Amino acid sequence: MSNLQPIGIFDSGVGGTSIWREIHELLPFEKTIYLADSKNAPYGEKPIEDIKNLSRKNTEKLLEMGAKIIVVACNTATTNAIKDLRNEYAFPFIGIEPAIKPAALNTKTKTIGILATRGTLTSTLFSKTSDFYARNINVVEVEGRGLVELIEAGDLDSPQMRSHLLRLLEPFLVNKIDYLVLGCSHYPYLIPILKELMPKDVIIIDSGEAVARQTKSILNENNLLITEVPSQKPIPEFFSNTNPKVLENLTEAEKNGYKVSYLDF
Ligand code: SIN
Repeated sequence: MSNLQPIGIFDSGVGGTSIWREIHELLPFEKTIYLADSKNAPYGEKPIEDIKNLSRKNTEKLLEMGAKIIVVACNTATTNAIKDLRNEYAFPFIGIEPAIKPAALNTKTKTIGILATRGTLTSTLFSKTSDFYARNINVVEVEGRGLVELIEAGDLDSPQMRSHLLRLLEPFLVNKIDYLVLGCSHYPYLIPILKELMPKDVIIIDSGEAVARQTKSILNENNLLITEVPSQKPIPEFFSNTNPKVLENLTEAEKNGYKVSYLDF
């Protein structure tokens, strides 16, 4: 394996670009390949075996494309499939889990909120993390049902999105949370309206930066980090197995000169 190979990233769709962005900012000289499995989104409503099989399919594709590390930029795939991926492939995988720890350590009201998919909230990995870090506090869990579908359709702010979100956020408002943990890589795209809809003093956190730092650290441990500044900055590549328009818009591909293509995978 060479450090010149790309970092492979996959998600159930376009949302994991929120994680990709953090990785690209921290490691601008690393080549990145992103797979958006939008054809099969949302993963959060699927049986565990399906989530595992889709994660294997995406892994195989990224390995075929020469990835040196794989970032599972999807909470649902991480919490349900990363253990199997690590057992089945002798390969470095980075996962993304809801940032319960910082919220649980810093809450003043002793009540935090988690917005995530059903797949994440019902997973064993999520329950273990929640039991470990948040056993003495009140954790209000809300399934973000329907949000991934709207974001996949390119809707980041509309009357429909706002009224849907208002309904979903009600348990957080009633229970007076002071931290809101975003447990799905699609949701950071909703931060601007979440800030408007939630009280000003509620702190909203996601896991993007932590995943980027972890990616850097694991690459470093494996001697896979780019050590010399290349003569040309690598162009990030994005692939979608549906119409790539939303992916193009979210990454501002045209303005930034990124490559976005359709790929049947
Ligand atoms: C989904 O596909 O349901 C959401 C992805 C995630 O959990 O990050």
